[in-house]
Amino acid sequence: MTEIGELTVGVLGGTGPQGKGLAYRWAKAGLKVVIGSRAAERAEATAGELRELAGVGHIAGADNLECARQADVVLVAVPWDGHGALLESLREALAGKIVIDCVNPLGFDKQGPFALPVEEGSAAQQAEALLPESRVTAAFHHVSAVHLVDPEVAEVQTDVLVLGDDREATDLVRALADAIPGVRGVFGGRLRNAGQVEALTANLIAINRRYKAHAGLRVTDI
Ligand SMILES: NC(=O)c1ccc[n+]([C@@H]2O[C@H](COP(=O)([O-])OP(=O)(O)OC[C@H]3O[C@@H](n4cnc5c(N)ncnc54)[C@H](OP(=O)(O)O)[C@@H]3O)[C@@H](O)[C@H]2O)c1
Repeated sequence: MTEIGELTVGVLGGTGPQGKGLAYRWAKAGLKVVIGSRAAERAEATAGELRELAGVGHIAGADNLECARQADVVLVAVPWDGHGALLESLREALAGKIVIDCVNPLGFDKQGPFALPVEEGSAAQQAEALLPESRVTAAFHHVSAVHLVDPEVAEVQTDVLVLGDDREATDLVRALADAIPGVRGVFGGRLRNAGQVEALTANLIAINRRYKAHAGLRVTDI
């Protein structure tokens, strides 16, 4: 398995529940983490909260640009609305780096959640189009932020589908998934298959609403 111990992981939008939750778990696993935000002071405040929660010192905060510059691997954890503009602004800083997109383009109406159409096919493919010099992967779409950030949840029971066209990059992202207790990273296909993985989150949210749960996914027989 790819060595991840020496990596610094940047989390764009790390002040929100999803970025915060993954940052917490990676910091607990010993990785250096930089929280990113549109405002450096918000990132620093979240980093301080997480240092206390995780009982570790290696969590810093910075604006998204500085976060992208400092990190070896960068998770994109912003809402779909801000996805394209943010990535476009970080093209240079993200060149040559592994980018993990966990963004689910979803809408909500009276009938609940539904997948939004995306011109490029998926959020991950939009990232690939905007970041031609980065190694774009897609993962962590289905993992519950509520479980991730809850220190009482010792093991986050779910598989994480990891998609991408670069074997070394998807292996490394699988290792980042495996670093979270209870989670298993599973290769889920090429990036062109990210659309249905993102869309499946609408089904999971419907499941969560019906069963009052924070459901995950398991792939059997592998
Ligand atoms: N929540 C979950 O359980 C979950 C699970 C799987 C995947 N996801 C995906 O992960 C992403 C983040 O989810 P979340 O629930 O953490 O979202 P969120 O709280 O709505 O947003 C995360 C952060 O993004 C920043 N942000 C907000 N609007 C922005 C914009 N227009 N441009 C740039 N940055 C903006 C904000 O940070 P600053 O104001 O500090 O910049 C915010 O704290 C989403 O795309 C979601 O689909 C979420």
